[in-house]
Parts: sequence; C-alpha cells; structure tokens
Amino acid sequence: PVERTLVLIKPDAVHRGLVGEILSRFERKGLTIDAMVYRQMDAKLADAHYAEHVEKPFYPPLKEFMTSAPLVALILSGDTAIEVVRTLVGATDARKAAAGTIRGDLALSNRENLVHASDSPDSAKREINLWFPKA
Ligand code: CMP
Repeated sequence: PVERTLVLIKPDAVHRGLVGEILSRFERKGLTIDAMVYRQMDAKLADAHYAEHVEKPFYPPLKEFMTSAPLVALILSGDTAIEVVRTLVGATDARKAAAGTIRGDLALSNRENLVHASDSPDSAKREINLWFPKA
C-alpha cells in the first residue's frame, strides 16, 4: 500500500551540507516528495513532536539540539514508505547503524544522527499533522 511518512533532515545534516545527499538517497529509491519546508523547530513543536520522549533523560539535550538551528521537514510517499524509509535511515545509534544506511555511512552519534523518520502508521499520521496541518 502507498503510505506517507514524516522525515526531518536534522540541524546537523543542514550544518554539514548533507541535505542534498540525503534527499538524493530518498529520490533514487523511488520515493516521492509530497511536501517540504525549511524551518526551525521551536520548544512547543519539539515537545509535541517528541511527546513520547519528553520525560527521558536524553530529552533536554535532544531538544536543545533540535531547536538550535533550521532543519528540513518533508513528507515522503511510496509503497510501504514508513518501513522503507526507516531501513534507508538505519539504526538510531549511528555508531551501530549498518553500512549502506544514511546514518551508517554519514554519522557517528546517538543524538546527532542526521534524520528522523516516523516509526509507525500512527506516528506518521500524528507527525504529518504537526508539521503539515493542511497536508
Ligand atoms: P529520532 O529518530 O529523532 O527520535 C528520537 C531521537 O532522540 C533520536 O532520533 C536521537 O536523535 C535521540 N536519541 C534517542 N536515544 C538517545 C540516547 N540514548 N541518547 C541521546 N539521544 C538519543
């Protein structure tokens, strides 16, 4: 089935000039960009986006990082896009992410891991609504 998923190309990727590289990997896979915006996350959006993490010890530095500079938010669509994108992105801890994945090839941190991607149909719907209320 065709699905939509929410992707954030995080501030570390923007800072390192990797936006084109990351978008290119998604496009070459055959996914479609349905919407895209360059914007800075504020505290309120961070708390909403990461609602399931706000009580975790890693959240304060994560919030600091994610709100520190602009990022690129996009909706990708395609056949089973939610799982396909998670596979392309690789494991959360970039130090352990498999070679060939975005994080495995390009990052070396558990926090500054270049990309966020929705992890389920429910979170995709919720996150798309937060970032693109009209989409
Ligand atoms: P993301 O896919 O955006 O979802 C939650 C984010 O929290 C994750 O990517 C990482 O950036 C960050 N994160 C998750 N676990 C840890 C951790 N143990 N230490 C630091 N950052 C983490």
